[in-house]
Amino acid sequence: MGKLTTQFLGFEMDNPFCVASAPPAATGKLMADAFDAGWGSAIMKTVGPVEEPIINVAPRIQTFKKWNREIAMQNIELITDRKLSVWLEELQILRKRYPKKMIIGSVMAPGHEMDAWAKLVKEMNRVGCDAVELNLGCPHGMPERDMGAICSQDPEIVYNIVSTAKSVSKVPILTKLTPNVTNIKVMAKAAQKGGSDAITVINTVNGIIGVDIYSRKPHLSVKGYTAVGGISGNAVKPIGLKCVAECKEATGLPISATGGISQWSDGVEYLIMGASQLQVCTEIMIRGFKIIDGLTKGLEKYMDQMGFKTIEQVKGDLYKNITSFDFLLKQSGSEKVKINEETCTGCNICVVACKDAGYDALKLKVVKGGRKTQGERNVADLIYDNCTGCNLCVAVCPVPECMTLYDSKEPFPYELHKSYAGNTLVGK
Ligand SMILES: Cc1cc2nc3c(=O)[nH]c(=O)nc-3n(C[C@H](O)[C@H](O)[C@H](O)COP(=O)(O)O)c2cc1C
Repeated sequence: MGKLTTQFLGFEMDNPFCVASAPPAATGKLMADAFDAGWGSAIMKTVGPVEEPIINVAPRIQTFKKWNREIAMQNIELITDRKLSVWLEELQILRKRYPKKMIIGSVMAPGHEMDAWAKLVKEMNRVGCDAVELNLGCPHGMPERDMGAICSQDPEIVYNIVSTAKSVSKVPILTKLTPNVTNIKVMAKAAQKGGSDAITVINTVNGIIGVDIYSRKPHLSVKGYTAVGGISGNAVKPIGLKCVAECKEATGLPISATGGISQWSDGVEYLIMGASQLQVCTEIMIRGFKIIDGLTKGLEKYMDQMGFKTIEQVKGDLYKNITSFDFLLKQSGSEKVKINEETCTGCNICVVACKDAGYDALKLKVVKGGRKTQGERNVADLIYDNCTGCNLCVAVCPVPECMTLYDSKEPFPYELHKSYAGNTLVGK
């Protein structure tokens, strides 16, 4: 048993990393490539009802880059355009070839056609899938056909689909939800009521990736037009973490996390939050299956560093600490910022941010010596009374650990007139 071995829904996986239902799992051959590369589990690209023709538009994928690195991706791709019969054959071959890998089927049907759902789930059982994921989350194209995200925006439909799937499935059911709802807890609870064994969050987030300001067309342009698509990639991780926390808190069910895992530490964040399985799509689409090496090595190194022997020990229940604002207010101390003058470069970034974002609690001052100079240099200086411990300066400072917060033990809350002393019209 390897160090990263972990259980999910009764199945033992070599590691918690899973190829999400998406282009990298668009064929049985690709899933085999993923297993050979070292992925612990894989979810086939979603298959729909046989009679539903799936025709994709071109182009259908665009990325958003910052400093030449992809931060997010928009897609308007539909579910698999391959025949169900081909998929069933491939899944059977995969089953035989990879008895120790977790193979998960993925299905979708219209929200009001329970027979279609039942048929697809039965087929996934028949060909030996270890679990079936119900895709109730695709936000584009499919909702216009009463499928995808529209199914997890109504708790009654969620319940009907999940209970139908459960009634015909011998293997565990994962319900994949859309984040594009006001309250995802309601949907997770409906899935639980229907008997879901686990929740997968998130499918992609509704969005439009950008506009080309010179052609004045959408960045993802089909002859100048676009559709609201699904945003994925590292930028959606905060939404994913929120949904994992909320679904775990609402149901206590095992969670398969997907959304923005681009390096091993993103996965660890999800495990600490309360997830058990880590699905990746966009990062594989950009950099290939071999990223599994970095993911597993990084995770192993982290475990050594932290003294963790098993993935169980890496997992946490941080979702319990996602609480109300009122509760936080009772925890809040009188934080102030401390500046390490030795490492401060006097770059002025924190001073500008603090002034124009509100509090005017920082200025530059001149000190002599330090940072390998005998001469004078600028460093940031705190205007103590103005500081409300908001953390903006810490967040924008380019030098690690240069600015830190500490509890000043002053009475809390601060006197407001004091904290805006620099940014007021009164008396000026
Ligand atoms: C091009 C593309 C196609 C996708 N197709 C499917 C699909 O067929 N079924 C599904 O459940 N999710 C689909 N997804 C969503 C992914 O499985 C995943 O949930 C989402 O992209 C978030 O993870 P990521 O940030 O690692 O990409 C697709 C995503 C992309 C980018």
